[in-house]
Amino acid sequence: MYSSMEETRGNVLFFVIAILSVMPTSSVSSLLESPSFRSPVSNLTVAVGREAVLNCAVDNLSPYKVAWLKVDTQTILTIYNHVITKNNRIGVSNSERNIWHLHIKDVRESDQGWYMCQINTDPMKSQVGFLTVVDVVSVPPDILDYPTSTDMVVDEGSNVSLQCVAKGSPEPSIMWKREDGEKIRFQNGVEVLNATGPVLNITNVKRDHMGPYLCIATNGIPPSVSKRIKLVVQFAPSVYIQYQLIGAYDDQQVTLECFSQAFPKSINYWTKETGEIIPHSNKFVPEIIEDGYKVHMKLRIKLLDPKDYGIYKCISKNSLGEMEGTINVYRLTNPNQYIHTSKKELTEDNIISGNNNHRYFDDVRKIRNDTSKKFNLEEAIDLQSYHSTNSAHYISISNHLMKLFLTLVITLHYGHHYHSHIRVSIS
Ligand SMILES: *[C@@H]1O[C@H](CO)[C@@H](O)[C@H](O)[C@H]1NC(C)=O
Ligand SMILES: *[C@@H]1O[C@H](CO)[C@@H](O)[C@H](O)[C@H]1NC(C)=O
Ligand SMILES: *[C@@H]1O[C@H](CO)[C@@H](O)[C@H](O)[C@H]1NC(C)=O
Ligand SMILES: *[C@@H]1O[C@H](CO)[C@@H](O)[C@H](O)[C@H]1NC(C)=O
Ligand SMILES: *[C@@H]1O[C@H](CO)[C@@H](O)[C@H](O)[C@H]1NC(C)=O
Repeated sequence: MYSSMEETRGNVLFFVIAILSVMPTSSVSSLLESPSFRSPVSNLTVAVGREAVLNCAVDNLSPYKVAWLKVDTQTILTIYNHVITKNNRIGVSNSERNIWHLHIKDVRESDQGWYMCQINTDPMKSQVGFLTVVDVVSVPPDILDYPTSTDMVVDEGSNVSLQCVAKGSPEPSIMWKREDGEKIRFQNGVEVLNATGPVLNITNVKRDHMGPYLCIATNGIPPSVSKRIKLVVQFAPSVYIQYQLIGAYDDQQVTLECFSQAFPKSINYWTKETGEIIPHSNKFVPEIIEDGYKVHMKLRIKLLDPKDYGIYKCISKNSLGEMEGTINVYRLTNPNQYIHTSKKELTEDNIISGNNNHRYFDDVRKIRNDTSKKFNLEEAIDLQSYHSTNSAHYISISNHLMKLFLTLVITLHYGHHYHSHIRVSIS
């Protein structure tokens, strides 16, 4: 029936006749299950120059036909699989399960509007969908894998350049931030929460730059996309010791502490001066607290006896190097005798530990204020069991330091023993 209609294409009057002529009589239609739309015609946004395809899915169509119309101009575009309009950019196709596709090639702005999918039932059934035509091509951002940096492992002190390339329309903009929300610090001291641009340059990279970074591409067309790039900074171990001298009495318990940083992760252990590793035992209790590349090492020594005094070393080793720190545990004399001695010998130049905290801190202040005087550690500490070799070691430390700050922490335990604990810090 439709093939005969082709000759009349373009004549509006004939189309109306055509539509009427394909309508089955109402007596026939009442016998059949009536056709229905399976889903609405979905709205569509298409850029100028592209092809738009509107879909109309129908159930129980036969023997009816589907027609497409442009609503605002009241133009019939297609009926069944025939193109009616003279507009040669229009096409029609159908796929299985009765989905009727209206094709509009090389879309123009004038094509924008409502399109109707109509079934020639009596009364006719129809539904509409809106075609939006945009002049700029709007494509959400997409991060390109190849030019974009992958996870990086660099040495501390090197220069790092993280790259992120995204396509999309409009041109996406790139923002960098740390995944952990920390600020990104640049060498010139500037710290930012985020940085823009396809390249993130970090010169002289430091260990605290280590972590996951996010490059986020946005262009106003959702969704924004991001890529996670991990920056790993390698460095040889470094060791920091707060209290290098620890005075203690026999039978006391002391805890030595050492802070190391290393990446890749270091192996950490304690040794005696001779280099023998100190294993976990009833007397020695090593403990390691790790936080990323930071390691807090502790060594608890229980019930000190004379052979336990001396030099202890904390060792931190990784593939890039090894570092050690030394702590000297020295023996204090009997507490009672000690107080007696300190009272007697306390002078401006001679810091003697005692149980009089106020007195002690006064003297510390004097020494701190007097920066002109070269401070002699040997004079400052009453070390009866201090060997000359050991003191030489510490004097060399003090010569390198502008200030020496001694703090005294006296902890009193009323138990079997009267314990006193002196901590000496060098800052
Ligand atoms: C199409 O868009 C119109 C408004 O422009 C809206 O009323 C209608 O619900 C939309 N149809 C669908 C299927 O999303
Ligand atoms: C890193 O960059 C700075 C300045 O751009 C330059 O002076 C320095 O030599 C570079 N360092 C390395 C290890 O390439
Ligand atoms: C980027 O950082 C600035 C401050 O430096 C802040 O005001 C802004 O909200 C940040 N933007 C995003 C998207 O995090
Ligand atoms: C980043 O560093 C590279 C060299 O590594 C350089 O060519 C580029 O200009 C730098 N970019 C910016 C934005 O500083
Ligand atoms: C040390 O200096 C501080 C100020 O820097 C001052 O208040 C204090 O009195 C000084 N102490 C001594 C003992 O001179």
